Amino acid sequence: MRRILVTSALPNANGAIHLGHMLEHIQTDIWVRFQRMMGNQCIYVCADDTHGTATMLAAEREGVTPEALIERLRAEHAEDFRRFHVSHDNYYSTHSPENEHYNREIYTRLAERGYTYTADVEQLYDPVRKLFLADRYLKGNCPRCGADDQYGDNCQECGATYDATELVEPRSMLSDAEPELRNSTHYFVDLPQFADFLKEWTATEAVQSEVANKLAEWLTGGLKAWDISRDAPYFGFRIPGTEDKYFYVWMDAPVGYMASFQNLCDRTEGLEFDDFWRPGTQAEVHHFIGKDIINFHCLFWPAVLSGSDFRTPTKVHVHGMLTVDGKQMSKSRGTFINAGTYLEHLDPEYLRYYLATKFGGNTDDMDFGLDDFVQRVNADLVGKVVNIASRCAGFIGKNFGGRLAGDIRDTELWDAVSGAGDELAELYESGDTGRAVRRITALADLGNRYIAEHEPWKHLRDPDRRDEVHGVCSLGINVFRALAVYLKPILPAMAEKAEGFLRVEQLAWHDAATPLLDHEIDRFKPLFTRIDKKALDKVIEATRAEAAEASAAQESHTVGIDDFQKVDLRVAKVLAANFVDGADKLLALDLDVGDHQRRVFAGIRSAYDPAKLVGRLVVVVANLEPRTMRFGVSEGMVLAAGPGGRDIFLLAPDAGAEPGMQVT
Ligand code: MSP
Ligand code: ZN
Repeated sequence: MRRILVTSALPNANGAIHLGHMLEHIQTDIWVRFQRMMGNQCIYVCADDTHGTATMLAAEREGVTPEALIERLRAEHAEDFRRFHVSHDNYYSTHSPENEHYNREIYTRLAERGYTYTADVEQLYDPVRKLFLADRYLKGNCPRCGADDQYGDNCQECGATYDATELVEPRSMLSDAEPELRNSTHYFVDLPQFADFLKEWTATEAVQSEVANKLAEWLTGGLKAWDISRDAPYFGFRIPGTEDKYFYVWMDAPVGYMASFQNLCDRTEGLEFDDFWRPGTQAEVHHFIGKDIINFHCLFWPAVLSGSDFRTPTKVHVHGMLTVDGKQMSKSRGTFINAGTYLEHLDPEYLRYYLATKFGGNTDDMDFGLDDFVQRVNADLVGKVVNIASRCAGFIGKNFGGRLAGDIRDTELWDAVSGAGDELAELYESGDTGRAVRRITALADLGNRYIAEHEPWKHLRDPDRRDEVHGVCSLGINVFRALAVYLKPILPAMAEKAEGFLRVEQLAWHDAATPLLDHEIDRFKPLFTRIDKKALDKVIEATRAEAAEASAAQESHTVGIDDFQKVDLRVAKVLAANFVDGADKLLALDLDVGDHQRRVFAGIRSAYDPAKLVGRLVVVVANLEPRTMRFGVSEGMVLAAGPGGRDIFLLAPDAGAEPGMQVT
């Protein structure tokens, strides 16, 4: 028995799971389920990738803590995967104590062995938001061609790539302020020290040959040290021994694989972290990733592991990108399809089946052809595979008391079907499920042809040919059963229904080799219906509508005077101000609004001492819809200005104003 730990890349905690992610998890899940059917121990873990500036900013925008934001997304992501039958053993988070532990351990070991160093870096800094700006938060004029409004690392006009510090008239996209060039100390992993190790490792079976070629290009070009730190404020783990330096998200992300596994070990009898992660172990570790993140998984990650005395991956399985109807997924075309939107209209196994026909175990991009999808599922899966069972089951039920014949009528057909197991297993192992499915549908063709040639429906009434009819239909059911075994990694729910209909225990891979004889089966219930093209159209429409809604929400920068007049701004007097248990940003304010009192939670704790607020006049939005928070209901909003932290300034009416006065 092999002992295998498998991972899919950790989806970013910045949006919904879409069909691109789903492709990866379906590919991984098929491989995992295949291994389990072969009797191997196969553990599949994943997590959300949560750290970084983007998470911090998104949480700020939504007015929630980063922790609340990432937990909401994690739960949504896990649910989407579950509904697509993705069989993770654990779906965890990189913002976890286990991850902080391993990150620290890895970093400390690297540092002790002289694989890290610090160096000063000049970087653009936003003086208003008070943070260093990553390239994607910068815009300016291209230093080569002068085109305006270009991003921090490349020009869309002339294609030049450059350093953000070269931008002409740079602007922070967060505040529109002019960024300053500032110095800061950064932490580096000295990657060149791993050059020999990486040359060797990337030439092994651990990577596909096309990936090895790509890596060889990078390796001969020379490796640069890897910057693994970011300055505060940053949502992530602080670097030990520093006050204001954090691990760059890509440092702790792959460590999340270990963390998710450790978390599973902690609640699973007999599962030991070290058995899988100590150097020299026989246990295998397999990562499934897209080709956009090869450098992180095939250079940084193995280097970091080998430098900190952990095992390196057995294999990194790299796949290509998903396109829809030949083009990149696009929101406006309605092809940037979220998993949840798909599930509202279509069976998850249609997608599992269709994508399985596309996987070749290589890095080619894969196309989700909308018409092709409907065609393949209806013609092959429903029309060929399921058809065998539905054609034969009725005869067995009605005419033979639901009992299968005691022998195999045509050994040539049966040998062809039952003998395909080894070849198919090899295809699954190598990730070439496309070829596996083509082999399986060809076997279904053989089965269907056999039934058509013997025309059981014609001879049913002929008493002399009863045995023949029984034998033909029983063989048909056995062919179907073998195909259900072969397809089970791809179609687990269909296989489960088939197990019910055949009245058998969970089908294992070797079951395809031995027929069911003299065995009673259940009444047949349809396993799949055809896809209605209209359901797919609805998915596209819904996706387009989601995109339109999102962009409308983004573009509505202005409000009309009519809208503005709906806002009831009033003077209020602070009667009491108190800390809120469990909320480190909030103060609870009891306000006199003229004719009544009310309570408002305000995010001003970092700037105001509550004792000094009592008696002050403030401005409130008096007709804001009450909002239920964890600590109680907030009835309104207090107006303040400033970037945050200590710099928050309550708007204060003149001392002569009275509570209840309208602000005009
Ligand atoms: N958070 C990182 C991965 C960290 S792993 C330690 C990340 N996240 S991601 O959400 O952008 O992508 C997650 C995975 O989904 C990646 O392997 C990526 O290649 C894959 N895909 C995202 N969009 C895709 C397509 N359109 N098609 C196929 N796979 C794609 O990268
Ligand atoms: Zn340019």
